[in-house]
Amino acid sequence: MHSAKPAVLILATGGTIAGQAADEVKSSSYASGVLDVGSLLAAVPGLAAVAEVRGEQVAGIGSEDMTEEVWFKLATRLNRAARDPGVDGTVVLHGTDTMEETAYFLNLVVKTEKPLALTGAMRPANAVGADGPRNIFNAVSLAASRAARGMGALIVFNDRVFAAREATKLDAMNVDAFGSPGLGPLGCMVDGKAHLYRKSLRRHTSNSEFDVSGLETLPRVEIIYGHAGQRPELVEAAVRLGARGIVHAGVGAANIHVAVKPAIIEARRKGVAVVAASRTGGGTVPARRDELGELGVVYPDNLNPQKSRVLLQLALARTSDPEAIQECFATY
Ligand code: SIN
Repeated sequence: MHSAKPAVLILATGGTIAGQAADEVKSSSYASGVLDVGSLLAAVPGLAAVAEVRGEQVAGIGSEDMTEEVWFKLATRLNRAARDPGVDGTVVLHGTDTMEETAYFLNLVVKTEKPLALTGAMRPANAVGADGPRNIFNAVSLAASRAARGMGALIVFNDRVFAAREATKLDAMNVDAFGSPGLGPLGCMVDGKAHLYRKSLRRHTSNSEFDVSGLETLPRVEIIYGHAGQRPELVEAAVRLGARGIVHAGVGAANIHVAVKPAIIEARRKGVAVVAASRTGGGTVPARRDELGELGVVYPDNLNPQKSRVLLQLALARTSDPEAIQECFATY
């Protein structure tokens, strides 16, 4: 039964937004994920005027501890909400550390045109200048809006709206923690109204071919960070430990140290998928037909290493053909 106001389902997973500091003026030290979703919603003035909200607690963790189990729970619940005519939009409350990964995962596996907004906070709930209530107000307003329909998963943070594929955490402390390097936000929130100016052209949500229903885990993919003086042993260890894929966060335009290349080549010979990403935090690395490209090393377009890992996991759940995987990086 629809009420006059949009119905917004809010799924809480923990994070700083649900944190409590021992000292309200020392917001860098606190217990994460201790408040339940009911208390978080009760602290937001004006919410009842925006939407008919219902909160559910899915987890209570700092997002540095995020697991595939929680991802699958979120995906299952959000796909159910997508089919429920009594839900108009959804919000996920999440720690900021890995929000971008969860957002991109949900962007690829939730089959919906309904708004899906993720948010969190940089300061615990009782800190002076806590940002959680404002971010929740904006996320619920966005999820209740028509503007966010068909836009895929969105991150709304510090009054700005970002595409899940493009958003990344750029600051360890400041409330202006998210950005989309080289691309910018899709728009902003002003007084609870969404002002959106562009959208991601890549496939997502109802237009995505990825489906995790029936899955309990995803293929193991490790990220290995490139650096001066790098050695091959970590790549070799990842292969030995059974990784199905490696994302190498290379220097510059995804370049890999000469001492590490033989281990990458050996990984490919053993059938391990490799994405050669960049640790720079911005820019596009297109597919290339160099020595590694000929061996099936995939290039990530403009996805950062942590998002490349999400896409590689989902791609590997369907195929190990490097050309098909490369096509995924051109499409999603
Ligand atoms: C976390 O990601 O859970 C900790 C940091 C935060 O939420 O801001």
